[in-house]
Amino acid sequence: MKTAITEMFGIEHPIIQGGMHYVGFAEMAAAVSNAGGLGIITGLTQKTPADLANEIARCRDMTDKPFGVNLTFLPTVNAPDYPGYIRAIVEGGVKVVETAGNNPQAVLPHLKDAGIKVIHKCTSVRHALKAQSIGCDAVSVDGFECGGHPGEDDVPNFILLPRAADELEIPFVSSGGMADGRSLVASLAFGAAGMNMGTRFIATKEAPVHDNVKQAILAASELDTRLVMRPLRNTERVLTNDAVERLLEKERALGADLKFEDIIEEVAGVYPSIMREGEMDRGAWSCGMVAGLVYDIPTCRELIKRIMKQANEIVDRIDGLRRA
Ligand SMILES: Cc1cc2nc3c(=O)[nH]c(=O)nc-3n(C[C@H](O)[C@H](O)[C@H](O)COP(=O)(O)O)c2cc1C
Repeated sequence: MKTAITEMFGIEHPIIQGGMHYVGFAEMAAAVSNAGGLGIITGLTQKTPADLANEIARCRDMTDKPFGVNLTFLPTVNAPDYPGYIRAIVEGGVKVVETAGNNPQAVLPHLKDAGIKVIHKCTSVRHALKAQSIGCDAVSVDGFECGGHPGEDDVPNFILLPRAADELEIPFVSSGGMADGRSLVASLAFGAAGMNMGTRFIATKEAPVHDNVKQAILAASELDTRLVMRPLRNTERVLTNDAVERLLEKERALGADLKFEDIIEEVAGVYPSIMREGEMDRGAWSCGMVAGLVYDIPTCRELIKRIMKQANEIVDRIDGLRRA
């Protein structure tokens, strides 16, 4: 399947693995890229630019296919060394960067000068248009269903994707709630040139996380995610657990007085314990509603192969209906 996205990134299938904190290590990105998709290393999971340079080199040892690096601009207590991370990306010869969280305008010239394609992930048409106007090559349009930060507009992909198609000139991929061949064909129908998946890729054999995380996604239904940090306008969709319910109780009790410090125990620095040690009640971790559509733990190659097969079967079936 050739689309504007497969051509832009030099990949076989129009499927991207979105950056994921403490999931997007070299093993994850290489597995997706080796399966014909675009794997992405999560830049900020690496503590220093030197660590990121090392992770890029490790990924290169595992695949000769294109892969990308995610750079997330989110409200953090101490601003990371973004210039250093960008140097590591450029010097590491990475050709695709996924930006997210905030306007990437300040870093764009450095990336473009190095011949890097930039795909900006955003949750609204207005932010997608802004990304287009500042020179991003593509956007990832992340609907309200998504795991992680869906923004504050709450527009699901059945509306958001066709709206993006009506407004954008640059190619875009769907993101949020994508799991299988049906998701891919629906995304194409809405005008996207491919799809981005997060949660689905965590439940794969190669995802470098504790088995408890994969089993939690497998066990979850589409009803098991919660929105946290809404009062702080930093909404995150997470899988429910004891810590999340405690956090929500604090949000209810404190109302408009809630401050980040009140929930720091449930959200700050919890990813290593959850993703590495499998301590599932340690805190809030991003997970999409699409967990309800995750029924197994295949390899990335099996997953992508199955998605493409199902997508092609659906297209053939629709074609058959048209001819009947
Ligand atoms: C565990 C987890 C961690 C994530 N961390 C990041 C991150 O650090 N930066 C980012 O831009 N997106 C992050 N995301 C969002 C994903 O890249 C992707 O946009 C999202 O998962 C798509 O929705 P889906 O989970 O329904 O597929 C994360 C998602 C998950 C599930």
